[in-house]
Amino acid sequence: MKNVIAIDGPAASGKSTVSRGIASALGYLFVSSGHFYRALAWGTVRDHLSNEGIAEWIGKRSLDVNVSTGGLLLLLDGEDVTPHLSEPDVAAKVSVIAAFPAVRDYVNSRLRSLAESHSLVMEGRDVGSVVFPETPFKFYLDASPEERARRRAGEGKIDSVAERDRLDSTRATAPLTIPRGAIVIDTTHLDIPQVITAILDHLAKNPPAASPQ
Ligand code: DC
Repeated sequence: MKNVIAIDGPAASGKSTVSRGIASALGYLFVSSGHFYRALAWGTVRDHLSNEGIAEWIGKRSLDVNVSTGGLLLLLDGEDVTPHLSEPDVAAKVSVIAAFPAVRDYVNSRLRSLAESHSLVMEGRDVGSVVFPETPFKFYLDASPEERARRRAGEGKIDSVAERDRLDSTRATAPLTIPRGAIVIDTTHLDIPQVITAILDHLAKNPPAASPQ
């Protein structure tokens, strides 16, 4: 396995922008594990799937990952899902389908296989706790619920952050949690460059081993 920097936290805690910045500073591949769940959520919307049929449905899906210079491209059954990832019905469905163990197993196997060929900065809810518990590089970003709701509204996104938090934190399988050994950073009063600097400073003191890209 190559180096993996795991960055977990609730919705709108700054994970995604911070993770992109860390990946670009280190020359690692940025991976949003949430995009994998969103891709499958979009598939359930596309197929008008009820939750009962999900284990059987997932067994018939092909979620392909293309790594290009621009980052990751996800193809569900051959179709580029990028235009759909932020759609309101995807945001409304994603935490529901992410609670199914069959869905999590499916996504986890794809996430883990990426680390065989690339050093990664991966963000999500269970990256440090479940997907790569063995990585020594774990961070957990948080911010007050008010600040996170404000950030989402500022992005112009229709997204029930509070409801997703509730579902993500209370599900039985791989709930959102602070991974053991993670460095916790409260971003409520920090801007993005400050958070990136805090993480890079920490990594500079505890550097990942050089690993060919
Ligand atoms: O990071 P995001 O908002 O794109 O994630 C969308 C949803 O995907 C999130 O509400 C819960 C689910 N998710 C998850 O269950 N586990 C992850 N590692 C990442 C995302």
